[in-house]
Amino acid sequence: MSRKQIHLAAHFPGVNNTTVWADPRSGSQIDFASFAHLARTAERGKFDFFFLAEGLRLRELKGRIHDLDVVGRPESLTLLSALAAVTGRLGLAGTVNATFNEPYELARRLATLDHLSGGRAAWNVVTTSDAFTGENFRRGGYLDRADRYTRAAEFVRLSRELWGSWRPDAVLADQAAGRFVREGAVGTVQHEGEHFSIEGRFTLPRAPQGHPVIIQAGDSDEGREFAAATADVIFSRHGTLEEGKRFYADVKGRLAGHGREPHQLKIMPGVTYALGDTEAEAAENAATIRRQQVGPQTAIAFLEQVWGRDMSAFDPEGPLPDIEPDLDEGVSQGRVPIKDRAAVAAKWRALAEEKGLSIRELVIEVTGRQTFIGTPESVARQIDEHVQGDAADGFILVPHLTPGGLDDFVDRVVPLLQERGSFRSDYTGTTLREHLELA
Ligand SMILES: Cc1cc2nc3c(=O)[nH]c(=O)nc-3n(C[C@H](O)[C@H](O)[C@H](O)COP(=O)(O)O)c2cc1C
Repeated sequence: MSRKQIHLAAHFPGVNNTTVWADPRSGSQIDFASFAHLARTAERGKFDFFFLAEGLRLRELKGRIHDLDVVGRPESLTLLSALAAVTGRLGLAGTVNATFNEPYELARRLATLDHLSGGRAAWNVVTTSDAFTGENFRRGGYLDRADRYTRAAEFVRLSRELWGSWRPDAVLADQAAGRFVREGAVGTVQHEGEHFSIEGRFTLPRAPQGHPVIIQAGDSDEGREFAAATADVIFSRHGTLEEGKRFYADVKGRLAGHGREPHQLKIMPGVTYALGDTEAEAAENAATIRRQQVGPQTAIAFLEQVWGRDMSAFDPEGPLPDIEPDLDEGVSQGRVPIKDRAAVAAKWRALAEEKGLSIRELVIEVTGRQTFIGTPESVARQIDEHVQGDAADGFILVPHLTPGGLDDFVDRVVPLLQERGSFRSDYTGTTLREHLELA
């Protein structure tokens, strides 16, 4: 196949306002049936993997649980283990924090998932270091921001040592000779590092993939270096053509410095989409979804994150009030903080004035539209253009509805990608590494 092949993943809708829970079609965010439906849909569409995000502390707004969004989510690896039983080929990717876990324990759980699923496990290594989340895990103190990637790098290195410590042929199970493992085939791991110290043997034989797939989702310079040195896949925020190309060139350009080739790291931005039978209908559907995602109270909540003030007295359908942001006070916790709120507030004000937008219309405008909008033909063409043009190697699709949010994509867009010769019509391998064309 001469065309560059597209890689696709299905993100289970999460705890942010892009997930519309107040739609009559929305199902449970916690029933196994919801996860199974989305995973089976992704597998029907021959996707590379299913993806779960992680949040280790409930988000708060003004000291109260932020209950405008979905609140709470189950633990990834437990859930993925259950999904392994109802899927056969689909990769199973879980986000698990490297700051608040221990390598031996997590390496075991990931190796177990890889065994249970026949080689379909992936770990999205995240490094949240905020003290707010840390309060759930540590007695005082937490990892310095500067140290979180050194810890993550050591964590992954050590996990790989543990995963590789049994020789591939270690299990002999020779009944006649009465030997279960081959002499000398189960190695010891001795590690004395800055963050971890381990001496012992791993509890599991080598997993089907050898090493579960490593995904990375940080965006800072350290995050990109960590990905270039370590990751098999990057989950990025850069889904547009221009930003995508810039990010792609930046990260792929760092690989040589780590002795790696461009094809060894797949770049998959998280993206959203809206379909319609005509371009006009798709645009209308996109606008309807945006209004569902940014309801009146959500609009005020977004405004408060920038203004740092209680804005609940203002009408979300009315104009932006003439009030300056309070730059001292942070109201929202558990979200990535907004940098330079004064500049953001000034930009929002200028935009609202220029276009005559209400608070809600402004928030809809500034929090971004869907990445791909159009007929199935147009969306398939756009996706293919991004991949062939090196703005991505594929995408992590983030539907706005649970559990049926990917049904239309799989039924209407995937066949067109297959017709273009850019996406598999069936799985050719059994492991996630094979789907991703990784060694
Ligand atoms: C697309 C994307 C998805 C992320 N998903 C999660 C997540 O599910 N859970 C989490 O704790 N952090 C998540 N993160 C946060 C990163 O792990 C990281 O902590 C954060 O981006 C700050 O690191 P940086 O300074 O390198 O960007 C995500 C980041 C990005 C860019």
